[in-house]
Amino acid sequence: MNPRLQTRVQRYGWDKAAPYYEAGWKDSLAPAQDQLLEFGAAATGEDILDLACGTGLVTFPLADAVGPSGRVTATDLSDNMVDSIIAEAARRGMAHVNAFRADAENLHEVEDQSFDLVTCALGLMYCPDPAKAIGEAFRVLRPGGRAVFAVWGARNACGWADIFPIVDARVESDVCPLFFRLGTGETLAAEMATSGFTQIQSERLNTILPYSDDRAAIDAAFVGGPVAMAYARFDDGTKQTAEAEYLASIAPFKFDLGYRIPGEFVVCRGVRGEQSA
Ligand SMILES: C[S@@+](CC[C@H](N)C(=O)[O-])C[C@H]1O[C@@H](n2cnc3c(N)ncnc32)[C@H](O)[C@@H]1O
Repeated sequence: MNPRLQTRVQRYGWDKAAPYYEAGWKDSLAPAQDQLLEFGAAATGEDILDLACGTGLVTFPLADAVGPSGRVTATDLSDNMVDSIIAEAARRGMAHVNAFRADAENLHEVEDQSFDLVTCALGLMYCPDPAKAIGEAFRVLRPGGRAVFAVWGARNACGWADIFPIVDARVESDVCPLFFRLGTGETLAAEMATSGFTQIQSERLNTILPYSDDRAAIDAAFVGGPVAMAYARFDDGTKQTAEAEYLASIAPFKFDLGYRIPGEFVVCRGVRGEQSA
């Protein structure tokens, strides 16, 4: 897919997904986000940049960790995600959290060497060129600073993965053509090393996507995530056939009325060495 088109589809798709995102994904993403927070080890007073922040499931724990003497800057491609962070920061009285819209691949608003920690939880898979985003994270880190990235794991370990071919068969170009690439083998760690990160640590972990019934599984997959833009444009008949195909693909994970779908994450941490220019 043309990279600019992929980015636009993601931007406006996540705008649509924003109100439904946490209901569909919060529980199942927690193992990756917890590992990312543990690897990040944010300390009081630090300056943190949270890329692809979404509704703030990682941003706000980071803000708690740094406290008011620190600063958390949250960025996302989607205006609606950024607006939800700004509203939630105000509701929590967190003046040390600020947010603005930015593509993780091009952080031109952010000065070189200005953060102690850069995080990106479950965002890199949506970038047409994730190496650029990893390079940008390296650029904006101070020497000695850390980056932590979490991505979905290997395709065959993610029981919900057929959502992509099911949607792609009904649109002109693939929604996220390389979605599982970074989570396959040691690809994410290797990309980090190529960008200059050292002391790389990597964890592969499992999760379960729990849905109480067909509707909850369908809404998470089609409405609360990366295919929301394509799905919104389907007519009713196309929606029905796509949903039926998706339910057939997750049938092996059905129990009673609900589902327990397996998933996998890879979380990597790296350091920008003190000597790096
Ligand atoms: C699965 S959500 C993750 C949100 C949050 N980090 C979390 O852990 O809950 C993916 C987020 O990536 C954002 N995103 C997608 N492509 C992006 C890009 N190129 N640059 C920045 N954010 C992007 C989406 O708008 C969405 O908010």
